[in-house]
Amino acid sequence: MDAARPDEQALIAAATRVRSHAYAPYSHFAVGAALRDEHGSIHLGCNVENAAYPQGLCAEAGALSALVASGSRRVLAVAVVAGGAQLLPVTPCGGCRQKLREFASDDTPILLADPTGLRRRTTLGALLPESFGPQHLVASTPSGAKS
Ligand code: THU
Repeated sequence: MDAARPDEQALIAAATRVRSHAYAPYSHFAVGAALRDEHGSIHLGCNVENAAYPQGLCAEAGALSALVASGSRRVLAVAVVAGGAQLLPVTPCGGCRQKLREFASDDTPILLADPTGLRRRTTLGALLPESFGPQHLVASTPSGAKS
């Protein structure tokens, strides 16, 4: 794999920093996510677990919320940092792939990293092929409405 470019390194470094704020007392699995938007700004999230386990939030979901709250609507690149050099590179969970898909494209790069750096480059299209998205709702008849 090629070495990370400076822009990729910056995104991974940001995700690595925010990972230190993860609240993961149940899994002890800290995750940091960084998203680059259409203005070049970086938005961050970390996982936030909950004693009611299903209420926990993934790092990617938090970063997406920050991006949208800033006024952005485009995800141009994603970095996820978790695990360790001896573990498999961590990919976004299925739910987060779909959440990212709303604001990203099939060719949006997803950088999988651990605290030592970039492990793998992939794309949203590779992680979520033939996905359902906003275009499927365009020009559709509202559900239950007479045509
Ligand atoms: N997690 C994330 O935040 N993002 C991922 O991409 C994978 C999993 C979190 C959820 C949970 O807090 C912990 O990692 C273990 O599953």
